[in-house]
Amino acid sequence: MTIDELKSKFAGKCIVKEGPGGLPVIGVCNAAASAEICLMGAHLMSYVPNGRGEVLWMSSQSSFEVGKAIRGGIPVCWPWFSKNPMFEDAPMHGLARIMMWELVDVFSTEKQTIVKLALNAVPGYEQFWNYRFSLEYTITVGATLTLSLKTTNKDDRPMHITQALHTYFNVGDITKVQVEGLDGCSYLNKVGDGGTGVRQGNRIIDCEVDEVYQGVKRTLVVRDGSIPRTILVNNFNSNSAVVWNPWIAKSQRMADFPDDGYKTMVCVESGNVIDDARDIQPGESHELLAVITVK
Ligand code: BG6
Repeated sequence: MTIDELKSKFAGKCIVKEGPGGLPVIGVCNAAASAEICLMGAHLMSYVPNGRGEVLWMSSQSSFEVGKAIRGGIPVCWPWFSKNPMFEDAPMHGLARIMMWELVDVFSTEKQTIVKLALNAVPGYEQFWNYRFSLEYTITVGATLTLSLKTTNKDDRPMHITQALHTYFNVGDITKVQVEGLDGCSYLNKVGDGGTGVRQGNRIIDCEVDEVYQGVKRTLVVRDGSIPRTILVNNFNSNSAVVWNPWIAKSQRMADFPDDGYKTMVCVESGNVIDDARDIQPGESHELLAVITVK
């Protein structure tokens, strides 16, 4: 659907505009919050609960084109997280984040807007993912942000997925940030030679961090010592989470990431990854749910 067709179909329900790179972006606004979603990737680029400022970090150097991941916001990593285990040349973090999604509908009440998006095919990438499926992404924008990613297996074979809502949080000063809720969780360290560990206490970010946690049961808290803001992440149907910050050298290596970008972001990702991968039987569904609240 063209931007003009979207504008006329959703007139009065949301604002449709041409975003960076000419991509369709929808804006929603209610008495409690506002948000912007790019239909390429079903990518939430902005979430502002009233009086709390921008919650999501976006790279000023992101590319905006179909087939390329947007840097920042909330990329939807699906149906595989990280590298594809079978195909070396398959895109990193799956296909959902580089596909044009369908805007299904938008519903609003005074303090909440529900945006429904869908993806039912991966044109051009069937060599990496040839299942029949439906992927429904429901973004509820209000005083709380709720993200529901529901995969339905419409094929006659079981489907194995890994996935993540790869949230980039905006922080005031990374050296004053602590991620709470991981104490006692085992993790895979993806930096350097890797290895595994068990987190003791909170995660302070003072170097490159790329850790995949398992057995995550508690609320994850991003406590920001430099601004009066605490972010709570509650995940459902998920036992795994990823904490990522590229720090100095990797920020410099990434073309779509400002050199000093690592100072004001941290990814705390809601996932079903590694040991928490899911098998979905024909006709069945799995819903990954993340609820983000800012205090
Ligand atoms: C994290 C991974 O989730 O995403 C990291 O654990 C990766 O290994 C990071 O570097 C960013 O990935 P990408 O594909 O968006 O550059």
